[in-house]
Amino acid sequence: MGKLDGQVAVITGGASGIGAATVRLFAAEGARVVVADMQEDKGQEMAQELGDQGTFVQVNVTQEAEVKAAIDTTVERWGRLDCIYNNAGFGGALGPIESISVEDYDMTFDVLLKGVFLGIKHATPIMKKQQSGSIISTSSAAGVEAGMATHLYSVAKAGVIHLTKSVALELGEFNIRANCICPGAIVTPLAVGRPSPTDKQVAGLRKGAAHLHPLGRVGEPEEIAKAALWLASDDSSFVTGQALAVDGGITAGRPWRDLPEFHRTSHPIRMYRVPGK
Ligand SMILES: NC(=O)c1ccc[n+]([C@@H]2O[C@H](COP(=O)([O-])OP(=O)(O)OC[C@H]3O[C@@H](n4cnc5c(N)ncnc54)[C@H](O)[C@@H]3O)[C@@H](O)[C@H]2O)c1
Repeated sequence: MGKLDGQVAVITGGASGIGAATVRLFAAEGARVVVADMQEDKGQEMAQELGDQGTFVQVNVTQEAEVKAAIDTTVERWGRLDCIYNNAGFGGALGPIESISVEDYDMTFDVLLKGVFLGIKHATPIMKKQQSGSIISTSSAAGVEAGMATHLYSVAKAGVIHLTKSVALELGEFNIRANCICPGAIVTPLAVGRPSPTDKQVAGLRKGAAHLHPLGRVGEPEEIAKAALWLASDDSSFVTGQALAVDGGITAGRPWRDLPEFHRTSHPIRMYRVPGK
C-alpha cells in the first residue's frame, strides 16, 4: 500500500530537479499527480512517464489565471486536491544591491513569492471544502540565514517561510496543514546553473559546495522528495507551520572541521581560560 493511495497532488516546477523527483515519488506512493510547469517538453515527458497517474498543465506561476486553471483542471479531472507543492523557482536577480533593477526585483518576487501565494490561495477553497489538505512550499536554507545566496532570492525564500507560518495559523482549524522545506545545495539544473548540465558541471557543484555542509556533501533531489512525501502524508498529521531544513546541517552552523584548530584538538588543560588560573 502506498502512502498517498487515492490522493491527488499538484506539483509546480514538476518538470525538473526537486519537483521531478517529487512527482516520481508521489506517483510511486499511489498519488495522481499534476505536473505544473512552464517547460512544455519536459513537463509532457514527465507526465507520460506516469501513465494514467499523471498529467501536465503548462503554467507560469506568476500568472493568477494560469495557477487557478491548473488547480481547476486537477479537480475537474480527479475530483479532489490533497496536496499542492509550490516548488517552481529560479535563481532570481544577481549582483550587488545597487545594480539590481526594479524589473528584476519584481520578477524575482513574482516567481519565488507570488507564485507560492497564488498556489496557496487557489488550493485553499478546495481544501476547505474537503476539510483536509497539505500545502507544501520550497523555501531554502538561504531563507533561514543570510549570506547563502543572492539578496532577493534569500529575502523571497524568507518570505515563503513566514507566509507558510501565517497561513498555517489560519487554516489549521480546517484541517489544512502548511509547511515548507528549506533545502541546502541540491544537485539540480538550478544549482548547477545550466538547463541540462554536463557530468563535469555536476561534478563541479558536488565538489565546490560539499564542504559548506556538515555532512560533507551536497544533497540529491530525491532527499527533498522524501521530505515532501512525509509532509504530504499522514505520517506528519500533527505537523504544521514548520520550516523543515533538509540541508546536510548547513543551517545548524559552521562545520566542525572549519573551526580553528585550537578548538578542535585535545589539550592537557581541558578548558579554555578557567577563571583565576
Ligand atoms: N537546487 C538547490 O540547491 C535548491 C536549494 C534550495 C532551494 N531550491 C528551490 O527548489 C525549487 C526547485 O528548484 P530546483 O533546484 O529543482 O531547480 P530546477 O531548475 O531543476 O527546477 C525548477 C523548475 O521550476 C520551473 N519554473 C521556473 N519558473 C517557473 C514559473 N514562473 N512557472 C512555472 N514553472 C517555473 C522550471 O521550469 C523548472 O522545471 C526552487 O524553488 C528553488 O529555489 C533549490
